[in-house]
Amino acid sequence: MVPAGPGGAGGSHRGAAPGRPARPVTITACPDGPLLVRGDLELVDDDGRPVQPSRSTFALCRCGASASRPFCDGSHKLVGFRTGPPARTPAVTFDES
Ligand code: FES
Repeated sequence: MVPAGPGGAGGSHRGAAPGRPARPVTITACPDGPLLVRGDLELVDDDGRPVQPSRSTFALCRCGASASRPFCDGSHKLVGFRTGPPARTPAVTFDES
């Protein structure tokens, strides 16, 4: 499962709404929690099919305990998921302009 970008592996891209500039994609690693993904992108499965939600912000599970993978359902709190020390760099931004 990969976020798709224009011309990248995985195929299609959900651009900005007409008349609105594209929002850059950011992925933020939440301490002891999911990856928050924001921006104008489309998440696709291994076969390139779009995966819901179509929202511009969603949380991807990285603990493996979610019942609604690839999305976080809050189970990381129940299983005591810990990520260790925070990364030194802030959110990653993909500028596709
Ligand atoms: S990170 Fe939240 S359920 Fe896995």
